[in-house]
Order: sequence, then structure tokens, then C-alpha cells
Amino acid sequence: MNREYDMILREDQEKVESALSDLFRTDRQYADLQEAMEYSLLAGGKRIRPVLVLESCRLCGGDPERALPLACAIEMIHTYSLIHDDLPAMDNDDLRRGRPTNHVVYGEATAILAGDGLLTAAFEQLVRAELPPASLVEAVRCLAHAAGPQGMVGGQAMDMAGEGHALTRDELETLQSLKTGALIAAAAELGVIAAGGGEKQRRSIRRYAQAVGRAFQIRDDMLDVTGTDQELGKPVGSDNANQKSTFVTALGLDGCTLEIEHLTAEALDALQGFENPGFHIWLARKLATRTK
Ligand code: IPE
Ligand code: IPE
Ligand code: MG
Ligand code: MG
Ligand code: MG
Repeated sequence: MNREYDMILREDQEKVESALSDLFRTDRQYADLQEAMEYSLLAGGKRIRPVLVLESCRLCGGDPERALPLACAIEMIHTYSLIHDDLPAMDNDDLRRGRPTNHVVYGEATAILAGDGLLTAAFEQLVRAELPPASLVEAVRCLAHAAGPQGMVGGQAMDMAGEGHALTRDELETLQSLKTGALIAAAAELGVIAAGGGEKQRRSIRRYAQAVGRAFQIRDDMLDVTGTDQELGKPVGSDNANQKSTFVTALGLDGCTLEIEHLTAEALDALQGFENPGFHIWLARKLATRTK
């Protein structure tokens, strides 16, 4: 059974890789902007968010192929967030997805513009999906809300403002729900939208993905302490160097493990109304103990 899900994951990842690389088949016109965008977007990455789009679409009875432009769009936004997150003004990291970070290779100005380019091009890509106009509008609204000041960008602002002092557990929960949970929840919701799913399915899948997203960020905080640069493809110890409050500083490693277990149980509970939630169950468990 696990091998079957592993295969689904790999097939989805390949579909996403191929769709993303197709986006860059045009002439490069603007200095090295397009090269910089491609450099980070096509550098690997786990592609968890686009996979969640495709599989949540399938879970709700839709055809994942039709959700592919939505999957690409969310990965483009995620990649932009990583390019900006690594900038000297933010986390100041020099390794990402196993490569020198965007600004190290192309300079800060181009890295900022590559992020801007990916963010805006994401919406152009999204509306290429062959879906009813009302679904497209809802997908744009959902993604814009999750990526913006009431989602990921808001969380990143809290994260930066929190450097140098201890945040309360409540503050950390809000921060992580925004900076990471929001996009992961949007990924799953975009799948429901592409499938034409109902409000009840959307609420359940949102509950699942919000829990998975929070567990995902807690695991990220743990790996910043226990992982290796080589396995993660990014520098460990970055949070400590930037004096970030994280779940590790708040709860310790054992407390984090316990919290991830609670969140994973919550995620599985949210799937009860679905007929074939096998992949989603497997994914939540896999991410809970991931090492990269
Ligand atoms: C890294 O996300 C940033 C976080 C929200 C923790 P991922 O761990 O999904 O990074 P990639 O896409 O695999 O590089
Ligand atoms: C950033 O969180 C999440 C984003 C919105 C990019 P982190 O700063 O912990 O992500 P990593 O560890 O650099 O991938
Ligand atoms: Mg950061
Ligand atoms: Mg970072
Ligand atoms: Mg991190």
C-alpha cells in the first residue's frame, strides 16, 4: 500500500516538474530575470503543495490534469517566498534546494525581481486552467488571500518582527499558521475548487491541511536543529543565528514531537467524511517524520 502511495507521489512530482519546465520555453528577453526565476523554480524541492492540489482534486472526484495550472501557480508562489525569505534583509541564507541562493548567484536586485516575477506570473498561469469562470475567480481569491498579508506574507512579517525576543506559544501558533499553514491549506482547497467540490468538502480539507501545515513548520523548526545542510539542501542553524523564536525554543524537541503527533491526529480526523483518503493519511504521517 505504501509503495502505491509512493508511486502516486512520484508521478505527481514528475507531472509538476514537467509542467513547470514547460513554462520557460519562451525567449529570454529581460537580462537574466527569467534565468533567475527558472534557477530557483527548477532546483528540485519536494513539491508538496502542488501534489496536495492534484491529490485533493482527485479526492473530491475531479481530474487532477485539470488542476495542473493551479498546482504550478502555488509552487511558483512558494518558490518566490523562498527567494525572498533567503535575502540578506530576511533570513540571510546562502543555500537553498541544494544550490547557492538566488541572490548569491544573481544579486539582490535580480533576486527580488525574480520573486516578484514568479508571484505575478503565478496568477497568469492559474487562469489558464480550463475551469468554469466562477471556479477560476474563486481559485484566484483563495490563493491571493493565502499568499498575502492575511496569510503567508503576514506570517513572514510576524516572523521578522519576532527576531530577538521570545514569542508566546499563541503568537507562534498564529505565526506558523500564517507563514506556512495558509499556503498549504490553499493548496488543498485549490484541489477542491478544481474538482467542483462542495463547501463541506472544502471545510474538511482545509482543516486537514491547516493541521498538516502547522506540523510541517514545526518539523521544519526541528530539522533546523537536528538536520544536516546536505540532506535539507539549506543551512541548518539559521533560526538560532537569527534569534528566532520557534517551536523548538518554546517546547523543546520532545514537545515538538508530541505537538506534531496531536496535529497529525487532528489532520486524520478531518478526513473522516471522504471515501478514499488513503493518500492524504499516508502523506500526513510521512511528513510528520520527514528528515528533509
Ligand atoms: C520550506 O518549504 C519553507 C517552509 C514553509 C518550511 P519546503 O520544505 O516545502 O521547501 P521545498 O519546496 O521542499 O524546497
Ligand atoms: C519560511 O520559514 C516560510 C516561508 C514562508 C518562506 P523558514 O524561514 O523557516 O523557511 P526555511 O527554513 O528558510 O525554508
Ligand atoms: Mg524565514
Ligand atoms: Mg528561512
Ligand atoms: Mg525553517
